Amino acid sequence: MMKVLVVGGGGREHALAWKLGHSPLVSEVLVAPGNAGTENEPNTHNIPINPEDLESLVALAISESVGLTVVGPEQPLVAGITDRFEAAGLKCFGPRAAAAQLEGSKLFTKSFLQRHNIPTANYASFDKLHVALEYVKSVELPMVIKANGLAEGKGVVVAQTQMEAEQAVRKMLENRAFGEAGTIVVIEEYLQGEEASFIAMVDGTNILPLASSQDHKTRDDGDKGPNTGGMGAYSPAPVITPDIHEQVMQQVMIPAIRGLSSEGLEYRGFLYAGLMIDSKGTPQVLEFNCRFGDPETQPILFRLRSDLAELCLKSFDGTLSGAAVEWDSRAALGVVMASNGYPGNYKKGLNIQGLEKIYDDSVKVFQAGTVINEGQVLTNGGRVLCAVALGNTVREAQVLAYENVKKIDWDGAIYRRDIGYRAIDRERVSAS
Ligand code: AMP
Ligand code: GLY
Repeated sequence: MMKVLVVGGGGREHALAWKLGHSPLVSEVLVAPGNAGTENEPNTHNIPINPEDLESLVALAISESVGLTVVGPEQPLVAGITDRFEAAGLKCFGPRAAAAQLEGSKLFTKSFLQRHNIPTANYASFDKLHVALEYVKSVELPMVIKANGLAEGKGVVVAQTQMEAEQAVRKMLENRAFGEAGTIVVIEEYLQGEEASFIAMVDGTNILPLASSQDHKTRDDGDKGPNTGGMGAYSPAPVITPDIHEQVMQQVMIPAIRGLSSEGLEYRGFLYAGLMIDSKGTPQVLEFNCRFGDPETQPILFRLRSDLAELCLKSFDGTLSGAAVEWDSRAALGVVMASNGYPGNYKKGLNIQGLEKIYDDSVKVFQAGTVINEGQVLTNGGRVLCAVALGNTVREAQVLAYENVKKIDWDGAIYRRDIGYRAIDRERVSAS
């Protein structure tokens, strides 16, 4: 039996901690810093350490004899948490800083994709304002403008007009709205199609694809409104047919891991490819993330029957390829409940009511921006929780998830009413 440390405090980390806590290999789960949801899980304890405080995390892992650390968010990975843990002789599931550049630098990724013939949108990159502004005038609309570095999901603008494109470029290169992350901009061709997430566990060489999923990035129904971290997700995603799955493995995942190895970069951890699938079913890479998705983790792990801790440990022995992974055959769908105002400003510290009314085995509320105060769960962030439900179809999972969302409330809670609509449309078509 071993202690496990989960780094992070959002909904993804609640799901990771919950799942790891069910492993017969795990005696106790520590979460740094965690949230009210992780605090309330059995054998799970929150430790008030910031995920970016790498020194304190290493010290904690040593003093608690942690056998496995799983990192949720990207910042610590890009900052080298895995390198630090390895130097201290500790097992940390997540890529080293050099490989985490796949998420940390769009420019690194675009040129990597080109070098290895992995399909992606055409692009150009700029660090000089006047050159970028000149270029913007010469390309077709819409165009996509991206800050090179980590910008918490806010560094991408799909510009529909020249004016929007110019403003986005000025915001990044002139006003330095994203600081260091925006000193280089990548401007790329706009791709049409349906987005899907393809997430795998990687042990350096072998790729173990997890169940497919799709999230909804915008805040409002109909995929409208501002971009967010994700307002809901479901698994499986019917857009990833067995044929497309094979194409993604052959054209994206395998060449990516081989390409990294050929450049001396070993990749261990979750690897998340954000894909655009065009009308012919051809996948193109929009982005790589060096971590699990949030909220995709919540429905995916709710379906996982295998032992996540064992799978993570196998990645250190290079034996992931032989691992058998079992999934619940049912679909899972998660609806994020957020604070009024998110992704802009919102209030914190509001009483969340109704959590005790959720008792169905097919439902789990993963908490994100929450905190406990004198036994009461309060809101403490933009995305507050994600209610996940299982069903025989995505539609059934959706109905059950919303039945439970309606039991939960706080002053100004918001959520989308249409999570899963694309998958449900596909189910309707295939049933008729
Ligand atoms: P990224 O963080 O690079 O995945 O971009 C965030 C979101 O912007 C994606 O989920 C897409 O919705 C959109 N996006 C990014 N790149 C493109 C592109 N080349 N064409 C169309 N949409 C894009
Ligand atoms: N749900 C999108 C992400 O985790 O990046």
